[in-house]
Amino acid sequence: MRFSLLTLVVALAATVIAAPSPSYIRHEKRNYLPRGWQRRQRMPAASVLPMRIALTQGNLDKGYDHLMDVAHPESANFGKHWSAKQVAETFAPSETTVDAVMEWLQNSGISADRISRSQSLGWLQFNVTVPEAESLLKTKYYLHEHQTGKPHVACDEYHIPGHLQEHVDFITPTVHFDTKIPQAKEKRTAETSGTAAAGVPVRTKAALQISNPTNGFQPKKGADINIQSIVDELENCNKMITPNCQVQRTPTTDLIDGATVQTEEEGFEFNAESDLDLEYAMTLVNPQKVTLYQVGDLVEGASFNNFLDGIDGSYCTADGGDDPLQDAIYPDPLPGGYTGPENCGGFAATKVISTSYGYNEADLTPAYEARQCNEYMKLGLQGTTILYSSGDYGVAGNGGQCITANGSFNDGFSGKFNPAFPSTCPYVTAVGATQILPGAPVTAPEEACEIVIFSGGGFSNVFPLPDYQSSAVKGFFADHPPPYGADRFNNSQAVRGYPDISANGANYVVAVDGTFSLIYGTSASTPVVGSIVTLINEARFAIGKGSVGFINPTLYANPGALNDITSGGNQGCGTAGFTAVAGWDPVTGLGTPNFPKLLELYLTLP
Ligand SMILES: *[C@@H]1O[C@H](CO)[C@@H](O)[C@H](O)[C@H]1NC(C)=O
Ligand SMILES: *[C@@H]1O[C@H](CO)[C@@H](O)[C@H](O)[C@H]1NC(C)=O
Ligand SMILES: *[C@@H]1O[C@H](CO)[C@@H](O)[C@H](O)[C@H]1NC(C)=O
Repeated sequence: MRFSLLTLVVALAATVIAAPSPSYIRHEKRNYLPRGWQRRQRMPAASVLPMRIALTQGNLDKGYDHLMDVAHPESANFGKHWSAKQVAETFAPSETTVDAVMEWLQNSGISADRISRSQSLGWLQFNVTVPEAESLLKTKYYLHEHQTGKPHVACDEYHIPGHLQEHVDFITPTVHFDTKIPQAKEKRTAETSGTAAAGVPVRTKAALQISNPTNGFQPKKGADINIQSIVDELENCNKMITPNCQVQRTPTTDLIDGATVQTEEEGFEFNAESDLDLEYAMTLVNPQKVTLYQVGDLVEGASFNNFLDGIDGSYCTADGGDDPLQDAIYPDPLPGGYTGPENCGGFAATKVISTSYGYNEADLTPAYEARQCNEYMKLGLQGTTILYSSGDYGVAGNGGQCITANGSFNDGFSGKFNPAFPSTCPYVTAVGATQILPGAPVTAPEEACEIVIFSGGGFSNVFPLPDYQSSAVKGFFADHPPPYGADRFNNSQAVRGYPDISANGANYVVAVDGTFSLIYGTSASTPVVGSIVTLINEARFAIGKGSVGFINPTLYANPGALNDITSGGNQGCGTAGFTAVAGWDPVTGLGTPNFPKLLELYLTLP
């Protein structure tokens, strides 16, 4: 869609004369160059950059209240979820936003006929020369080179007029730095494991960060198990947990963005996460069906945004919206990739979506994270429960890394705690891990998981404390003040704490390519919680009620429906981490689900 040239030229003539030059404010800044990259020369003036401006959506400031209106157990509208159309219309960018940004572009010499607006209405896009871009954003563009030789254009920071900050989410290409680096060992399909309406664990494996086999979101492998030695009696759950086989059953498979179910590459790093999630969720929700969302081709993979585009046409930015440096771009520009268009809507969101992958919050910019987080709010409004694993490295991040004074990552023996995204988004339910103490009876209280993995938990550096969690977090600080200062984590008591809930994350027997082994991780906890929510939905559907949707407000208002976990910790960054205590804590959240109590509670809610 193109703007009417005439109208805008008239507007331009008026404003150019009158407008004082606006005062610019830094909009985004990157603190460090990601590993493997080096800055090279300034970009030549003749180069053309495809610029995209992500406009802020309308009414997002009311998003939290809208969601509480349908998700808080004391709300008269509890369970009255919205249609996709109502969500799209409510949050489209306002005309005020479009006009304000267009006026700035005009005044900066970018004429209206060069600018197009995306079909989703969320983006303005235009081509600019490097000098135009540098003048527009008060920045300098450099060519960067990855050790593989891959080039990438970026700046360290950029500025926009102060009055536009509320109208612009972010602009690309600028500071974002996740260009696709093809590497043979990273060839694999992205998967989003979601627990479906039919109940489904899903996980998203982006080609790079979120699916790299060395990252923190693979489940952790323990001993191999001889099939003859497998025991499935309940009293052995402290040694091994064994699901009932679902012989010959397969998940429903939603293939998004050229995804395939790849069977060529076998091995723990390729198949363990899927096998774990499917084996447990399919067992637990049987006879409900589980849907596997598989996202992205084998070359480029996918990000969570690609998955969200596939299930929500109103979020979809395939016509120029995804951050091309962060999200996979389809048709895939890389050789051998998927040549079709990016999927934009068309795949139904299941009522529960469980994902066992994640980023470090510090991998991404706050603007990128806020935009994605708001999409989880919209899915909650539509009655979907979104679950994310809280990570397996305690207060440290993926791979055990922590944050240095200059904002880069270290080896994990010192530094700032490194929270996980999307877990810190207040509109997702973050799932931590517990264990049964070795040698203890299975009826003994569980503890925070300290076998092989440590439950991810802590406090966000990006998202503020949501009201629904406020008294839980304040109670934690009042009754059990952690022995660390602001040099370790944001201790303002004004930021989101995670996880919200937890479940056993130890000693799961999983069959991967014909070998049985023990598996550990919040990767295991999450599909189990997803399955429990799915069973609650099933019971509600049976009496004519709707799905539970966003569960956090109900959990925090009813902590008695969970088993409080009060011992164990989540060490990391050279510290003992936080400690599980009575009440909510940033190790195990409110505790593990007490299924009979949660079911009873949800059957009484409208
Ligand atoms: C940041 O600090 C670490 C040491 O803590 C150092 O190795 C690294 O080079 C620094 N990075 C930058 C971009 O200054
Ligand atoms: C930018 O230029 C490319 C290459 O000429 C073209 O395909 C694309 O449509 C242009 N984008 C806009 C927004 O004009
Ligand atoms: C901690 O979070 C609060 C609330 O968002 C913010 O105002 C403060 O600047 C943060 N502190 C640090 C040290 O980043």
